[in-house]
Amino acid sequence: MSTNRPAAVVVLAAGEGTRMKSKTPKVLHEIAGRSLVGHVVSAARELEPEHLVVVVGHAREQVRGHLEEQYAGTRTAVQEEQNGTGHAVRMALEELGEAPEGTVVVVCGDTPLLSGETLRALADTHAADGNAVTVLSAEVPDSTGYGRIVRDAATGAVTEIIEHKDASDAQRAIKEINSGVFAFDGKLLAEALGQVRTDNSQGEEYLTDVLSILREAGHRVGASVAADHREILGINNRVQLAEARGLLNRRLLERAMLAGVTVVDPASVFVDVTVTFEPDAVILPGTQLLGATHVAEDAVVGPNTRLKDTTVGAGARVDNTVADSATVGAGASVGPYAYLRPGTNLGPKAKAGTYVEMKNATIGEGTKVPHLSYVGDATIGEYTNIGAASVFVNYDGEAKHHTTIGSHCKTGSDNMFVAPVTIGDGAYTAAGSVITKDVPAGALAVARGQQRNIEGWVARKRPGSAAAQAAQAGPEGSAVES
Ligand code: UD1
Ligand code: CA
Repeated sequence: MSTNRPAAVVVLAAGEGTRMKSKTPKVLHEIAGRSLVGHVVSAARELEPEHLVVVVGHAREQVRGHLEEQYAGTRTAVQEEQNGTGHAVRMALEELGEAPEGTVVVVCGDTPLLSGETLRALADTHAADGNAVTVLSAEVPDSTGYGRIVRDAATGAVTEIIEHKDASDAQRAIKEINSGVFAFDGKLLAEALGQVRTDNSQGEEYLTDVLSILREAGHRVGASVAADHREILGINNRVQLAEARGLLNRRLLERAMLAGVTVVDPASVFVDVTVTFEPDAVILPGTQLLGATHVAEDAVVGPNTRLKDTTVGAGARVDNTVADSATVGAGASVGPYAYLRPGTNLGPKAKAGTYVEMKNATIGEGTKVPHLSYVGDATIGEYTNIGAASVFVNYDGEAKHHTTIGSHCKTGSDNMFVAPVTIGDGAYTAAGSVITKDVPAGALAVARGQQRNIEGWVARKRPGSAAAQAAQAGPEGSAVES
Protein backbone atom coordinates (compact mmCIF):
# COMPACT_ATOMS: atom_id res chain seq x y z
CA MET A 1 0.00 0.00 0.00
CA SER A 2 1.30 3.41 -0.91
CA THR A 3 1.61 6.39 1.35
CA ASN A 4 2.64 8.37 -1.66
CA ARG A 5 -0.27 10.75 -2.15
CA PRO A 6 0.21 12.77 -5.34
CA ALA A 7 0.17 16.56 -5.11
CA ALA A 8 -2.07 16.67 -8.15
CA VAL A 9 -3.71 14.60 -10.82
CA VAL A 10 -4.28 16.38 -14.13
CA VAL A 11 -6.90 14.98 -16.51
CA LEU A 12 -6.66 16.15 -20.12
CA ALA A 13 -10.11 16.61 -21.61
CA ALA A 14 -9.99 19.71 -23.79
CA GLY A 15 -10.02 17.98 -27.17
CA GLU A 16 -13.11 17.82 -29.32
CA GLY A 17 -12.92 14.19 -30.32
CA THR A 18 -13.94 14.83 -33.93
CA ARG A 19 -13.71 11.14 -34.79
CA MET A 20 -16.71 10.43 -32.56
CA LYS A 21 -18.82 12.37 -35.11
CA SER A 22 -21.09 13.50 -32.32
CA LYS A 23 -22.74 16.61 -30.94
CA THR A 24 -21.75 15.31 -27.50
CA PRO A 25 -18.16 16.06 -26.48
CA LYS A 26 -16.11 12.85 -26.54
CA VAL A 27 -15.39 12.68 -22.83
CA LEU A 28 -19.10 12.85 -22.00
CA HIS A 29 -19.93 9.70 -23.91
CA GLU A 30 -20.86 6.95 -21.48
CA ILE A 31 -19.96 3.37 -20.90
CA ALA A 32 -21.35 1.25 -18.07
CA GLY A 33 -23.33 4.16 -16.65
CA ARG A 34 -20.46 6.63 -16.35
CA SER A 35 -18.96 9.22 -18.68
CA LEU A 36 -15.50 8.57 -20.09
CA VAL A 37 -14.08 11.44 -18.07
CA GLY A 38 -16.04 10.19 -15.06
CA HIS A 39 -14.23 6.85 -15.23
CA VAL A 40 -10.89 8.63 -15.32
CA VAL A 41 -11.80 11.01 -12.48
CA SER A 42 -13.00 8.06 -10.39
CA ALA A 43 -9.72 6.21 -10.90
CA ALA A 44 -7.78 9.40 -10.15
CA ARG A 45 -9.71 9.90 -6.91
CA GLU A 46 -8.48 6.55 -5.64
CA LEU A 47 -5.02 8.16 -5.39
CA GLU A 48 -6.48 10.79 -3.04
CA PRO A 49 -4.52 13.61 -4.67
CA GLU A 50 -4.39 17.01 -2.99
CA HIS A 51 -5.71 18.55 -6.22
CA LEU A 52 -7.66 17.06 -9.07
CA VAL A 53 -7.70 19.30 -12.15
CA VAL A 54 -9.51 18.57 -15.39
CA VAL A 55 -8.36 20.58 -18.39
CA VAL A 56 -11.41 21.60 -20.41
CA GLY A 57 -11.64 23.40 -23.74
CA HIS A 58 -14.04 22.15 -26.35
CA ALA A 59 -17.65 22.36 -25.06
CA ARG A 60 -16.20 23.42 -21.74
CA GLU A 61 -19.49 24.57 -20.19
CA GLN A 62 -21.03 21.19 -20.80
CA VAL A 63 -18.03 19.28 -19.50
CA ARG A 64 -17.64 21.58 -16.51
CA GLY A 65 -21.36 21.32 -15.70
CA HIS A 66 -21.14 17.55 -15.78
CA LEU A 67 -18.11 17.54 -13.47
CA GLU A 68 -19.71 19.95 -11.01
CA GLU A 69 -22.85 17.87 -10.87
CA GLN A 70 -21.27 14.44 -10.61
CA TYR A 71 -17.78 15.02 -9.26
CA ALA A 72 -17.92 17.88 -6.81
CA GLY A 73 -14.51 19.06 -5.70
CA THR A 74 -12.96 18.62 -9.13
CA ARG A 75 -11.25 21.75 -10.39
CA THR A 76 -11.16 22.74 -14.02
CA ALA A 77 -8.55 24.65 -15.98
CA VAL A 78 -9.48 26.19 -19.30
CA GLN A 79 -7.37 25.62 -22.38
CA GLU A 80 -8.76 28.13 -24.87
CA GLU A 81 -7.09 26.59 -27.89
CA GLN A 82 -5.96 23.02 -28.15
CA ASN A 83 -2.27 23.66 -28.66
CA GLY A 84 -1.20 20.22 -27.53
CA THR A 85 -0.95 18.01 -24.47
CA GLY A 86 2.05 19.95 -23.08
CA HIS A 87 0.16 23.20 -23.38
CA ALA A 88 -2.86 21.59 -21.68
CA VAL A 89 -0.77 20.53 -18.67
CA ARG A 90 0.72 24.03 -18.53
CA MET A 91 -2.83 25.42 -18.22
CA ALA A 92 -3.50 23.02 -15.35
CA LEU A 93 -0.37 24.09 -13.49
CA GLU A 94 -1.30 27.76 -14.02
CA GLU A 95 -4.68 27.01 -12.47
CA LEU A 96 -2.91 25.54 -9.44
CA GLY A 97 -0.91 28.76 -9.06
CA GLU A 98 2.54 27.46 -8.27
CA ALA A 99 4.23 24.28 -9.39
CA PRO A 100 3.13 21.52 -7.04
CA GLU A 101 5.65 20.11 -4.59
CA GLY A 102 5.62 16.35 -5.10
CA THR A 103 4.21 14.02 -7.71
CA VAL A 104 1.92 15.18 -10.51
CA VAL A 105 0.08 12.42 -12.35
CA VAL A 106 -1.23 13.21 -15.84
CA VAL A 107 -3.93 11.10 -17.51
CA CYS A 108 -6.07 11.50 -20.60
CA GLY A 109 -9.81 11.90 -20.27
CA ASP A 110 -10.49 9.29 -22.93
CA THR A 111 -8.96 6.19 -21.31
CA PRO A 112 -11.88 4.88 -19.25
CA LEU A 113 -10.48 1.42 -18.50
CA LEU A 114 -7.50 2.71 -16.58
CA SER A 115 -7.82 1.50 -13.00
CA GLY A 116 -6.92 3.31 -9.81
CA GLU A 117 -4.69 0.32 -9.04
CA THR A 118 -2.60 0.87 -12.16
CA LEU A 119 -2.29 4.59 -11.43
CA ARG A 120 -1.16 3.80 -7.92
CA ALA A 121 1.40 1.27 -9.17
CA LEU A 122 2.76 3.94 -11.52
CA ALA A 123 3.02 6.51 -8.72
CA ASP A 124 4.73 3.91 -6.50
CA THR A 125 7.28 2.92 -9.16
CA HIS A 126 7.92 6.60 -9.81
CA ALA A 127 8.63 7.26 -6.14
CA ALA A 128 10.62 4.06 -5.54
CA ASP A 129 12.88 4.67 -8.55
CA GLY A 130 13.37 8.33 -7.70
CA ASN A 131 12.43 9.35 -11.23
CA ALA A 132 11.81 12.82 -12.57
CA VAL A 133 9.25 11.29 -14.89
CA THR A 134 7.78 7.81 -15.27
CA VAL A 135 5.62 7.01 -18.26
CA LEU A 136 3.06 4.23 -18.25
CA SER A 137 3.83 2.29 -21.41
CA ALA A 138 2.28 -0.77 -22.97
CA GLU A 139 3.07 -3.33 -25.62
CA VAL A 140 0.21 -3.26 -28.10
CA PRO A 141 -0.55 -5.46 -31.12
CA ASP A 142 -1.14 -2.40 -33.31
CA SER A 143 0.79 0.69 -32.34
CA THR A 144 -0.56 2.87 -35.18
CA GLY A 145 -1.28 6.42 -34.03
CA TYR A 146 0.41 6.14 -30.66
CA GLY A 147 3.60 7.80 -29.50
CA ARG A 148 6.44 5.22 -29.47
CA ILE A 149 8.75 4.62 -26.52
CA VAL A 150 12.32 4.86 -27.81
CA ARG A 151 14.90 3.01 -25.70
CA ASP A 152 18.70 3.01 -25.81
CA ALA A 153 19.73 -0.09 -27.75
CA ALA A 154 22.55 -0.90 -25.32
CA THR A 155 21.08 -0.10 -21.89
CA GLY A 156 17.34 -0.35 -22.57
CA ALA A 157 16.89 3.01 -20.87
CA VAL A 158 14.06 5.19 -22.16
CA THR A 159 15.43 8.06 -24.21
CA GLU A 160 12.39 9.73 -25.77
CA ILE A 161 8.81 9.42 -26.93
CA ILE A 162 8.30 10.01 -30.61
CA GLU A 163 4.84 10.70 -31.98
CA HIS A 164 3.55 8.48 -34.77
CA LYS A 165 3.40 11.41 -37.18
CA ASP A 166 7.01 12.36 -36.43
CA ALA A 167 8.44 8.83 -36.37
CA SER A 168 10.70 7.12 -38.89
CA ASP A 169 9.72 3.74 -40.33
CA ALA A 170 12.10 2.01 -37.93
CA GLN A 171 10.56 3.86 -34.99
CA ARG A 172 7.05 3.05 -36.18
CA ALA A 173 7.93 -0.64 -35.88
CA ILE A 174 8.26 -0.21 -32.09
CA LYS A 175 5.41 -1.96 -30.28
CA GLU A 176 5.92 -0.25 -26.91
CA ILE A 177 3.74 2.83 -26.84
CA ASN A 178 2.97 5.80 -24.64
CA SER A 179 -0.34 5.30 -22.85
CA GLY A 180 -0.58 9.05 -22.24
CA VAL A 181 -0.30 8.48 -18.48
CA PHE A 182 2.65 9.92 -16.58
CA ALA A 183 3.95 10.56 -13.11
CA PHE A 184 6.15 13.66 -12.86
CA ASP A 185 8.05 15.54 -10.26
CA GLY A 186 5.90 18.66 -10.13
CA LYS A 187 8.69 21.23 -10.02
CA LEU A 188 10.72 19.58 -12.79
CA LEU A 189 7.57 19.24 -14.90
CA ALA A 190 6.85 22.95 -14.64
CA GLU A 191 10.43 23.81 -15.59
CA ALA A 192 10.53 21.43 -18.54
CA LEU A 193 7.15 22.57 -19.90
CA GLY A 194 8.67 26.01 -20.30
CA GLN A 195 11.19 24.52 -22.72
CA VAL A 196 8.81 22.49 -24.89
CA ARG A 197 8.87 23.70 -28.50
CA THR A 198 6.34 23.36 -31.30
CA ASP A 199 8.71 22.34 -34.12
CA ASN A 200 6.91 19.09 -34.86
CA SER A 201 4.55 17.84 -37.56
CA GLN A 202 1.47 19.07 -35.68
CA GLY A 203 2.92 22.42 -34.52
CA GLU A 204 1.84 21.57 -30.97
CA GLU A 205 3.41 21.56 -27.53
CA TYR A 206 3.88 17.86 -26.89
CA LEU A 207 3.83 16.72 -23.27
CA THR A 208 5.90 13.78 -24.45
CA ASP A 209 8.85 16.08 -25.14
CA VAL A 210 9.20 16.69 -21.40
CA LEU A 211 10.70 13.23 -21.15
CA SER A 212 13.72 13.89 -23.37
CA ILE A 213 14.10 17.43 -21.96
CA LEU A 214 14.42 16.02 -18.43
CA ARG A 215 16.68 13.20 -19.52
CA GLU A 216 19.03 15.58 -21.32
CA ALA A 217 19.14 17.72 -18.18
CA GLY A 218 20.47 14.65 -16.37
CA HIS A 219 17.35 13.51 -14.55
CA ARG A 220 16.11 9.96 -14.14
CA VAL A 221 13.49 8.92 -16.66
CA GLY A 222 11.63 5.62 -16.51
CA ALA A 223 8.81 3.61 -17.99
CA SER A 224 6.45 1.26 -16.23
CA VAL A 225 4.96 -1.31 -18.58
CA ALA A 226 1.23 -1.90 -18.03
CA ALA A 227 0.40 -5.53 -17.25
CA ASP A 228 -2.58 -5.49 -19.59
CA HIS A 229 -2.44 -3.23 -22.64
CA ARG A 230 -6.24 -3.24 -22.92
CA GLU A 231 -6.41 -1.08 -19.84
CA ILE A 232 -4.91 1.91 -21.62
CA LEU A 233 -7.28 1.75 -24.60
CA GLY A 234 -7.94 5.34 -25.68
CA ILE A 235 -11.34 6.09 -27.17
CA ASN A 236 -11.21 8.03 -30.41
CA ASN A 237 -14.25 6.64 -32.25
CA ARG A 238 -17.41 4.67 -31.57
CA VAL A 239 -15.87 1.35 -32.51
CA GLN A 240 -13.40 1.82 -29.67
CA LEU A 241 -16.24 3.02 -27.45
CA ALA A 242 -18.06 -0.28 -27.95
CA GLU A 243 -14.83 -2.22 -27.47
CA ALA A 244 -14.18 -0.44 -24.18
CA ARG A 245 -17.75 -1.04 -23.06
CA GLY A 246 -17.35 -4.76 -23.77
CA LEU A 247 -14.05 -4.99 -21.90
CA LEU A 248 -15.36 -3.04 -18.92
CA ASN A 249 -18.57 -5.08 -18.81
CA ARG A 250 -16.56 -8.28 -18.79
CA ARG A 251 -14.34 -6.91 -16.04
CA LEU A 252 -17.36 -5.98 -13.89
CA LEU A 253 -19.03 -9.35 -14.43
CA GLU A 254 -15.83 -11.24 -13.67
CA ARG A 255 -15.50 -9.33 -10.43
CA ALA A 256 -19.11 -10.25 -9.56
CA MET A 257 -18.64 -13.91 -10.52
CA LEU A 258 -15.46 -14.21 -8.45
CA ALA A 259 -17.44 -12.76 -5.55
CA GLY A 260 -20.03 -15.53 -5.83
CA VAL A 261 -22.61 -14.30 -8.36
CA THR A 262 -23.79 -16.74 -11.04
CA VAL A 263 -23.92 -15.09 -14.46
CA VAL A 264 -25.22 -17.73 -16.82
CA ASP A 265 -24.25 -15.90 -20.03
CA PRO A 266 -21.84 -12.99 -19.49
CA ALA A 267 -22.03 -12.12 -23.18
CA SER A 268 -25.68 -11.10 -22.91
CA VAL A 269 -25.65 -9.41 -19.51
CA PHE A 270 -24.79 -5.72 -19.16
CA VAL A 271 -24.05 -3.96 -15.90
CA ASP A 272 -23.18 -0.45 -14.82
CA VAL A 273 -20.20 0.22 -12.56
CA THR A 274 -22.58 1.22 -9.76
CA VAL A 275 -24.45 -2.10 -9.60
CA THR A 276 -23.90 -4.25 -6.51
CA PHE A 277 -24.55 -7.91 -5.78
CA GLU A 278 -24.56 -10.36 -2.93
CA PRO A 279 -23.10 -13.84 -3.28
CA ASP A 280 -25.45 -16.47 -4.73
CA ALA A 281 -27.41 -13.95 -6.75
CA VAL A 282 -28.19 -15.47 -10.16
CA ILE A 283 -28.37 -13.42 -13.36
CA LEU A 284 -30.00 -15.07 -16.35
CA PRO A 285 -29.32 -14.17 -20.02
CA GLY A 286 -30.46 -10.99 -21.71
CA THR A 287 -30.39 -8.85 -18.58
CA GLN A 288 -29.30 -5.22 -18.11
CA LEU A 289 -28.64 -3.97 -14.60
CA LEU A 290 -28.24 -0.21 -14.47
CA GLY A 291 -27.56 2.62 -12.05
CA ALA A 292 -27.74 1.86 -8.34
CA THR A 293 -29.34 -1.55 -8.81
CA HIS A 294 -28.65 -4.10 -6.07
CA VAL A 295 -29.34 -7.82 -6.29
CA ALA A 296 -29.36 -9.66 -2.97
CA GLU A 297 -28.46 -13.20 -2.04
CA ASP A 298 -30.35 -16.03 -3.80
CA ALA A 299 -32.35 -13.61 -5.92
CA VAL A 300 -32.80 -14.73 -9.53
CA VAL A 301 -33.03 -11.97 -12.13
CA GLY A 302 -33.83 -12.48 -15.81
CA PRO A 303 -33.99 -13.62 -18.46
CA ASN A 304 -34.67 -10.53 -20.58
CA THR A 305 -34.90 -8.04 -17.76
CA ARG A 306 -33.84 -4.40 -17.40
CA LEU A 307 -33.51 -2.98 -13.90
CA LYS A 308 -32.48 0.59 -13.19
CA ASP A 309 -31.89 1.92 -9.67
CA THR A 310 -33.81 -1.09 -8.36
CA THR A 311 -33.22 -3.17 -5.25
CA VAL A 312 -34.02 -6.87 -5.45
CA GLY A 313 -34.32 -8.55 -2.06
CA ALA A 314 -32.96 -11.92 -1.00
CA GLY A 315 -34.51 -14.87 -2.76
CA ALA A 316 -36.76 -12.72 -4.93
CA ARG A 317 -37.59 -13.79 -8.49
CA VAL A 318 -37.68 -11.17 -11.26
CA ASP A 319 -38.51 -12.58 -14.68
CA ASN A 320 -38.84 -10.75 -18.03
CA THR A 321 -39.32 -7.45 -16.27
CA VAL A 322 -38.56 -3.76 -16.72
CA ALA A 323 -38.15 -1.83 -13.47
CA ASP A 324 -37.01 1.68 -12.63
CA SER A 325 -36.47 3.02 -9.10
CA ALA A 326 -38.35 0.15 -7.52
CA THR A 327 -37.81 -2.02 -4.48
CA VAL A 328 -38.58 -5.72 -4.59
CA GLY A 329 -38.83 -7.34 -1.18
CA ALA A 330 -37.22 -10.57 -0.05
CA GLY A 331 -38.90 -13.60 -1.56
CA ALA A 332 -41.15 -11.47 -3.76
CA SER A 333 -42.05 -12.50 -7.29
CA VAL A 334 -42.16 -10.20 -10.31
CA GLY A 335 -43.23 -11.09 -13.85
CA PRO A 336 -42.99 -12.63 -16.27
CA TYR A 337 -43.78 -9.44 -18.21
CA ALA A 338 -44.10 -6.91 -15.43
CA TYR A 339 -43.28 -3.20 -15.47
CA LEU A 340 -42.37 -1.60 -12.15
CA ARG A 341 -42.16 2.17 -12.44
CA PRO A 342 -40.65 4.65 -9.98
CA GLY A 343 -41.90 4.44 -6.44
CA THR A 344 -42.95 0.82 -6.55
CA ASN A 345 -42.23 -0.81 -3.22
CA LEU A 346 -43.08 -4.47 -3.25
CA GLY A 347 -43.03 -6.02 0.23
CA PRO A 348 -41.55 -9.35 1.22
CA LYS A 349 -43.18 -12.35 -0.50
CA ALA A 350 -45.44 -10.02 -2.48
CA LYS A 351 -46.22 -10.61 -6.13
CA ALA A 352 -46.52 -8.46 -9.24
CA GLY A 353 -47.38 -11.07 -11.81
CA THR A 354 -47.89 -11.28 -15.54
CA TYR A 355 -48.71 -8.09 -17.43
CA VAL A 356 -48.80 -6.07 -14.27
CA GLU A 357 -47.73 -2.42 -14.18
CA MET A 358 -47.10 -0.59 -10.93
CA LYS A 359 -46.15 2.98 -10.13
CA ASN A 360 -45.84 4.81 -6.81
CA ALA A 361 -47.33 1.84 -5.05
CA THR A 362 -46.55 0.27 -1.71
CA ILE A 363 -47.55 -3.37 -1.63
CA GLY A 364 -47.53 -5.13 1.75
CA GLU A 365 -46.01 -8.44 2.70
CA GLY A 366 -47.55 -11.43 0.93
CA THR A 367 -49.96 -9.32 -1.12
CA LYS A 368 -50.52 -10.54 -4.66
CA VAL A 369 -51.38 -8.74 -7.86
CA PRO A 370 -51.09 -11.76 -10.11
CA HIS A 371 -52.51 -10.85 -13.52
CA LEU A 372 -53.12 -8.08 -16.06
CA SER A 373 -53.44 -5.10 -13.75
CA TYR A 374 -52.37 -1.47 -13.31
CA VAL A 375 -51.61 -0.35 -9.76
CA GLY A 376 -50.81 3.37 -9.63
CA ASP A 377 -50.69 5.66 -6.59
CA ALA A 378 -51.75 3.01 -4.12
CA THR A 379 -51.08 1.54 -0.72
CA ILE A 380 -52.09 -2.07 -0.17
CA GLY A 381 -51.77 -3.87 3.16
CA GLU A 382 -50.59 -7.42 3.86
CA TYR A 383 -51.83 -10.71 2.41
CA THR A 384 -54.40 -9.10 0.18
CA ASN A 385 -55.27 -10.56 -3.21
CA ILE A 386 -56.12 -8.28 -6.11
CA GLY A 387 -58.22 -10.00 -8.77
CA ALA A 388 -57.10 -10.28 -12.37
CA ALA A 389 -57.53 -7.33 -14.72
CA SER A 390 -57.89 -4.64 -12.07
CA VAL A 391 -57.14 -0.98 -12.65
CA PHE A 392 -56.35 1.61 -10.04
CA VAL A 393 -58.04 4.58 -11.69
CA ASN A 394 -55.69 7.24 -10.36
CA TYR A 395 -56.11 10.09 -12.83
CA ASP A 396 -59.17 12.26 -13.29
CA GLY A 397 -57.67 14.16 -16.20
CA GLU A 398 -56.19 16.83 -13.96
CA ALA A 399 -54.75 15.33 -10.82
CA LYS A 400 -53.56 11.98 -9.49
CA HIS A 401 -55.38 10.42 -6.55
CA HIS A 402 -54.52 7.68 -4.09
CA THR A 403 -56.18 4.33 -3.42
CA THR A 404 -55.76 2.56 -0.08
CA ILE A 405 -56.62 -1.10 0.33
CA GLY A 406 -56.27 -2.87 3.68
CA SER A 407 -54.83 -6.22 4.71
CA HIS A 408 -56.36 -9.65 3.99
CA CYS A 409 -58.74 -8.22 1.39
CA LYS A 410 -59.94 -10.17 -1.65
CA THR A 411 -60.93 -7.95 -4.52
CA GLY A 412 -62.73 -9.49 -7.47
CA SER A 413 -61.48 -9.71 -11.01
CA ASP A 414 -61.99 -6.77 -13.34
CA ASN A 415 -62.36 -4.14 -10.63
CA MET A 416 -61.85 -0.43 -11.18
CA PHE A 417 -60.78 1.40 -8.03
CA VAL A 418 -61.71 5.01 -8.76
CA ALA A 419 -59.39 7.06 -6.57
CA PRO A 420 -59.50 8.56 -4.07
CA VAL A 421 -60.99 5.52 -2.44
CA THR A 422 -60.30 3.33 0.59
CA ILE A 423 -61.10 -0.33 1.19
CA GLY A 424 -61.00 -1.55 4.79
CA ASP A 425 -59.19 -4.59 6.18
CA GLY A 426 -60.65 -7.95 5.30
CA ALA A 427 -63.15 -6.53 2.81
CA TYR A 428 -64.22 -8.27 -0.40
CA THR A 429 -65.32 -6.77 -3.69
CA ALA A 430 -67.34 -8.51 -6.36
CA ALA A 431 -65.94 -9.23 -9.80
CA GLY A 432 -66.58 -6.50 -12.35
CA SER A 433 -67.11 -3.81 -9.74
CA VAL A 434 -66.38 -0.14 -10.29
CA ILE A 435 -65.52 0.93 -6.77
CA THR A 436 -66.16 4.65 -6.35
CA LYS A 437 -67.04 4.73 -2.64
CA ASP A 438 -65.10 3.61 0.39
CA VAL A 439 -65.70 0.03 1.51
CA PRO A 440 -65.82 -0.61 5.27
CA ALA A 441 -63.69 -3.34 6.84
CA GLY A 442 -65.20 -6.77 6.43
CA ALA A 443 -67.88 -5.68 3.90
CA LEU A 444 -68.57 -7.10 0.45
CA ALA A 445 -68.91 -4.35 -2.14
CA VAL A 446 -70.90 -5.08 -5.28
CA ALA A 447 -70.85 -2.24 -7.78
CA ARG A 448 -72.04 -3.46 -11.13
CA GLY A 449 -75.25 -3.71 -13.17
CA GLN A 450 -77.61 -6.61 -12.38
CA GLN A 451 -77.57 -9.32 -15.03
CA ARG A 452 -80.76 -9.98 -16.94
CA ASN A 453 -81.24 -12.76 -19.53
CA ILE A 454 -83.58 -12.08 -22.48
CA GLU A 455 -84.78 -15.55 -23.43
CA GLY A 456 -84.97 -16.44 -27.14
CA TRP A 457 -83.35 -13.18 -28.24
CA VAL A 458 -81.01 -14.84 -30.79
CA ALA A 459 -83.76 -16.80 -32.51
CA ARG A 460 -85.84 -13.61 -32.85
CA LYS A 461 -83.13 -11.12 -33.75
CA ARG A 462 -80.58 -13.31 -35.58
CA PRO A 463 -82.74 -15.91 -37.22
CA GLY A 464 -80.86 -18.45 -39.32
CA SER A 465 -77.47 -17.47 -37.89
CA ALA A 466 -74.97 -20.09 -36.77
CA ALA A 467 -75.68 -18.99 -33.21
CA ALA A 468 -79.41 -19.49 -33.66
CA GLN A 469 -78.82 -22.92 -35.18
CA ALA A 470 -76.49 -23.93 -32.36
CA ALA A 471 -79.05 -22.82 -29.79
CA GLN A 472 -81.78 -24.79 -31.54
CA ALA A 473 -79.73 -27.97 -32.19
CA GLY A 474 -78.48 -28.43 -28.67
CA PRO A 475 -80.22 -30.81 -26.32
CA GLU A 476 -83.41 -29.27 -24.95
CA GLY A 477 -82.58 -26.90 -22.15
CA SER A 478 -78.85 -27.80 -22.26
CA ALA A 479 -77.78 -24.29 -21.30
CA VAL A 480 -79.89 -24.49 -18.17
CA GLU A 481 -78.76 -27.98 -17.21
CA SER A 482 -74.99 -27.44 -17.38
C1 UD1 B 1 -1.32 11.30 -27.19
C2 UD1 B 1 0.19 11.24 -26.99
C3 UD1 B 1 0.71 9.92 -27.56
C4 UD1 B 1 0.02 8.78 -26.88
C5 UD1 B 1 -1.49 8.91 -26.97
C6 UD1 B 1 -2.15 7.89 -26.07
C7 UD1 B 1 1.11 13.50 -27.08
C8 UD1 B 1 1.77 14.52 -27.91
N1 UD1 B 1 0.81 12.36 -27.67
O1 UD1 B 1 -1.56 11.27 -28.58
O2 UD1 B 1 2.12 9.81 -27.35
O3 UD1 B 1 0.44 7.55 -27.44
O4 UD1 B 1 -1.92 10.20 -26.51
O5 UD1 B 1 -3.53 7.84 -26.29
O6 UD1 B 1 0.89 13.74 -25.91
N2 UD1 B 1 -5.79 17.22 -25.18
C9 UD1 B 1 -6.01 18.44 -24.58
N3 UD1 B 1 -5.52 19.55 -25.17
C10 UD1 B 1 -4.79 19.51 -26.30
C11 UD1 B 1 -4.56 18.26 -26.92
C12 UD1 B 1 -5.07 17.13 -26.32
O7 UD1 B 1 -6.66 18.51 -23.53
O8 UD1 B 1 -4.37 20.58 -26.76
C13 UD1 B 1 -6.34 16.03 -24.55
C14 UD1 B 1 -7.39 15.33 -25.39
O9 UD1 B 1 -8.68 15.80 -25.08
C15 UD1 B 1 -7.20 13.88 -25.01
C16 UD1 B 1 -5.73 13.80 -24.63
O10 UD1 B 1 -5.30 15.11 -24.36
O11 UD1 B 1 -7.97 13.51 -23.87
C17 UD1 B 1 -4.89 13.17 -25.72
O12 UD1 B 1 -5.01 13.94 -26.89
P1 UD1 B 1 -5.05 13.29 -28.32
O13 UD1 B 1 -5.18 14.36 -29.33
O14 UD1 B 1 -6.04 12.18 -28.34
O15 UD1 B 1 -3.55 12.73 -28.39
P2 UD1 B 1 -3.02 11.56 -29.27
O16 UD1 B 1 -2.73 12.05 -30.63
O17 UD1 B 1 -3.88 10.38 -29.11
CA1 CA C 1 -6.02 9.90 -28.20
